[in-house]
Amino acid sequence: MAAIKTVGVLTSGGDCAGLNAVIRAVTYHAVQRYGWKILGIQDSTLGLMDRPLRYQELRVNTFDGRLLRESGTFLGTTSKDNPLHVRMPDGTIRDRTTDFAEGVRQLGLDALIVIGGDGSMRILSQLCERAHVGMIGVPKTIDNDVHGTDWAVGFATALSVVTESLDRLQPTAASHHRVMILEVMGRDTGHIALNGGLAGGADIIIVPELPYTIEGVMQRIRQTLSEGRSHVMVVIAEGVKTIDGKKLSVKHSSGQTSYGGIGHYLAEQIAPHTDAEVRVTVLGHLQRGGTPSARDRLLASSFGVHAVELVAQGRFSRMVAWRDRGVIDVPLTEVTIGSRALDRDDPLIRTARGLGTYVGEP
Ligand code: F6P
Repeated sequence: MAAIKTVGVLTSGGDCAGLNAVIRAVTYHAVQRYGWKILGIQDSTLGLMDRPLRYQELRVNTFDGRLLRESGTFLGTTSKDNPLHVRMPDGTIRDRTTDFAEGVRQLGLDALIVIGGDGSMRILSQLCERAHVGMIGVPKTIDNDVHGTDWAVGFATALSVVTESLDRLQPTAASHHRVMILEVMGRDTGHIALNGGLAGGADIIIVPELPYTIEGVMQRIRQTLSEGRSHVMVVIAEGVKTIDGKKLSVKHSSGQTSYGGIGHYLAEQIAPHTDAEVRVTVLGHLQRGGTPSARDRLLASSFGVHAVELVAQGRFSRMVAWRDRGVIDVPLTEVTIGSRALDRDDPLIRTARGLGTYVGEP
């Protein structure tokens, strides 16, 4: 294997807390231990495909102490367009692999560290293969739906935001004797809803992976109120379908769509069956911000250091991962198979049922 001299690092897909901490760990370890040149690529693959190329050299003093504590990504990111199928202004579809490969060549990258979710792992592994550059993946997403890892960077902080939101909603729900519905992100999976809902003491948690009925939800609401509690807390994941199987989404001016609307749908379904007032909060992108939690910073730091070690050992096409109590690595082929849904036997589903929380039909 040729000696490593220059390594690129980029963030891809939706941002989350802890990305800057990963970039910092990659730079600190690669520069201090190996003396490599680290190039931070701007706005995901765009920085390599655009001309002039957009990147910056990262040094230890690039990180002035604040970045470890800041969410977002100072390199920028995008979740728009797959470089393998870019829709051009004239409506034609273009494959920008050649631009990507030429960018890699011009910068002299010996390896690329990709901090992304499952979609980014899949797309970037194809691009890197075509560009003949070794790739190492670092999982990040508030959705925590990347295969092969117990935790992705950003999930822990998102959970704190959901938990704190429930802490803030509970007193107002109690004061007004209301049914309070909180719609959370997670795309097609219910990891945020289940974990955040449990931590925040929700009475009802609805996730895309488990079927629910309005009767089941109403039964839990009636029982909670009849036991003397003044209010009911509900968490619903954005990717939950309506009772007749429709996914609800919002179309943006750019033509892109995001999930949205299921919280209000649920409120409309239950309101006719209860005297309690029903209110809905859609948490949205607040879940992607906030000061990175201690867990996310530890994860990010461990992942960054391990990613650099994999590059040093020439063990490419792998993703760093967290299992049990430490960092491991797994082949990208085990990761690029789609998103990881909640397991029906997830121990937390059992915990929720043990607490009497409604988490869908058994
Ligand atoms: O994948 C992260 C995520 O925040 C999802 O939970 C959510 O559905 C989606 O991104 C929102 O995407 P956008 O920022 O493009 O609206």
